[in-house]
Amino acid sequence: MSDELQGRAAHIAAIRERAEAEMKAIGIDGAFIGTLVDTFYGRILEHPELGPVFDARLSGRWPEHMAKMKSFWSSVAFRNGAYGGKPVQAHLGVANMTPELFPKWLELFAATLDDIAPSPEAKAWFMTTADRIARSLTLSLFYNPALDDPALKQA
Ligand code: HEM
Repeated sequence: MSDELQGRAAHIAAIRERAEAEMKAIGIDGAFIGTLVDTFYGRILEHPELGPVFDARLSGRWPEHMAKMKSFWSSVAFRNGAYGGKPVQAHLGVANMTPELFPKWLELFAATLDDIAPSPEAKAWFMTTADRIARSLTLSLFYNPALDDPALKQA
């Protein structure tokens, strides 16, 4: 391996180690991510509005979705590159998806973390991260310049 490649590999390893240590300090490890994803999507399925939207798209493919969501959260938490998908594309064409469902998703995520998060800091980390991704997905999927009138925001 060239010096440059070796340097880059060491840099990536250092980023991962730091991320893992930061997460460990607030109680987040791989096992917790597994529990969170299992518990959260169990509750999603029971939710009167979110459940049907997810199940219509994922019927027959739930195990694959759960595995994907576990790699997604591992990737974000531990910077380990476990997830290589395209979240915006994945949400395109999900039937009955509306911007109003995002606050409901976030509310259910917060309630799940209230019940099972290993520490208040862990809840705060997941909520800050999910909120940022939810905003970004909402803009990518629903941004409409015609409705983006600063005057409307002052009302
Ligand atoms: C109202 C809110 C949401 C709905 C209804 C929704 C629905 C879905 C559905 C149906 C899929 C499966 C797509 C498929 O495989 O065909 C999916 C995938 C996914 N969702 Fe969401 N989602 C929502 C919010 C979020 C949020 C807030 C995040 C992140 C924090 C997120 C992250 C993901 C990821 C990473 C995938 C996997 C993408 C892939 O296939 O690589 N979703 N979502």
